[in-house]
Amino acid sequence: MIEATLNTAQPQVDGKARLELCRHHFPLLRQRVNGKPLVYLDNAATSQKPQVVIDTIMRYYMEENSNIHRGVHYLSEKATEAYEGVRATVRQFLNAGDTREIIFVRGTTEAINLVAHSYGRVHVGKDDEVLISAMEHHSNIVPWQIVCEERGARLRVIPMNDAGELLVEEYEKLLTPRTKIVGLAHVSNALGTVNPVKTMVAMAHARGIPVLLDGAQAVPHMRVDVRDLDCDFYAFSGHKVFGPTGIGVLYGRESLLNAMPPYQSGGDMIKWVTFEKTVYNDLPYKFEAGTPSIAGGVGLGAAIEYLTKLDLDAIGLYEHDLLQYATARLSAVPRVRIVGTAREKAAVLSFTVEGIHPHDIGTILDLEGVAIRTGHHCAQPVMQRFGIPATARASFAFYNTKEDVDVLVKSVEKVIEVLG
Ligand code: ALA
Repeated sequence: MIEATLNTAQPQVDGKARLELCRHHFPLLRQRVNGKPLVYLDNAATSQKPQVVIDTIMRYYMEENSNIHRGVHYLSEKATEAYEGVRATVRQFLNAGDTREIIFVRGTTEAINLVAHSYGRVHVGKDDEVLISAMEHHSNIVPWQIVCEERGARLRVIPMNDAGELLVEEYEKLLTPRTKIVGLAHVSNALGTVNPVKTMVAMAHARGIPVLLDGAQAVPHMRVDVRDLDCDFYAFSGHKVFGPTGIGVLYGRESLLNAMPPYQSGGDMIKWVTFEKTVYNDLPYKFEAGTPSIAGGVGLGAAIEYLTKLDLDAIGLYEHDLLQYATARLSAVPRVRIVGTAREKAAVLSFTVEGIHPHDIGTILDLEGVAIRTGHHCAQPVMQRFGIPATARASFAFYNTKEDVDVLVKSVEKVIEVLG
């Protein structure tokens, strides 16, 4: 089995060079697409997996596969130990206070649905308000819309400026005694804006309002400390953080989770069942009905350990430099407009080219081996705000390089040349 090793003890190699060296840990990145070396710039949709994650999942299936929490036999105990070990890894990764606050879910979407349908259904009543921002992904809009429709409540929206920055003064005005919860993207998937979530959480808490943060686009790019942010819920997806699909995390404040009803029900979330009554399990199992993605969890643990060894602060600095380089180079191409020019941004470069549909840009870039996402990025209200149907979006990870950006820019120039 090939294991990706990280030589962190190389004082002569600076952080940037070390991150570039890590590219070879990602086997998929070695391939050619349409005869060209792959330039993978669709990391906001999903990131690639290092060899160590692939090996860990393979080893799990070859040596440990069993159902968890249910068996007294050797394999069941091994699998349970591995899965629960990951819960401890995630707790440390987010700096949560207790593993009971770490709920495994399918991904960010399920995490938000859990909060909306469990916390929301109990706490949001007629004429109450749920406050979200103008740059939310559909997964932080639609669950709240459903709850509001059911409860006779209203969805309110924090506006943003032309740069894609939330208007914090407007946010303050929208926090009223009717507001029952705030849902905010930590980083926007369509614009790359890093929102001032710590300040915004404090403003909501000053009025006794809990806050859910969608961290799907933040966790791969920066250190996240849920106790420092003081948020009440934090959601992220494994597959965006170099782990497998089908596994994600909801962090929740223990006092809130304890008071919330189950979201799904069935096996493992119970202590005792009779036909008359069911006693629910303790945290975190109360929210984990059915057999979970055990291999996914084990793979996520390997991904987090890998990322932690690389150092998220170094990753943040490296990607900041890369984004600045990409922004400067792409902005210099005639007819290109960058969508999302906030002062604080992370890893996302959305753009349009005057007179050319983003889908055509994506198709021609693919012929050059460059993978980007085109469309509304599951954030249609963002497109409506900017008066455009779609954007082309390059999104970066620490394994991308300035050479990748050069290929992107050259390919966009080719698109303009071909389509005029
Ligand atoms: N939410 C993912 C994206 O932004 C799928 O592409």
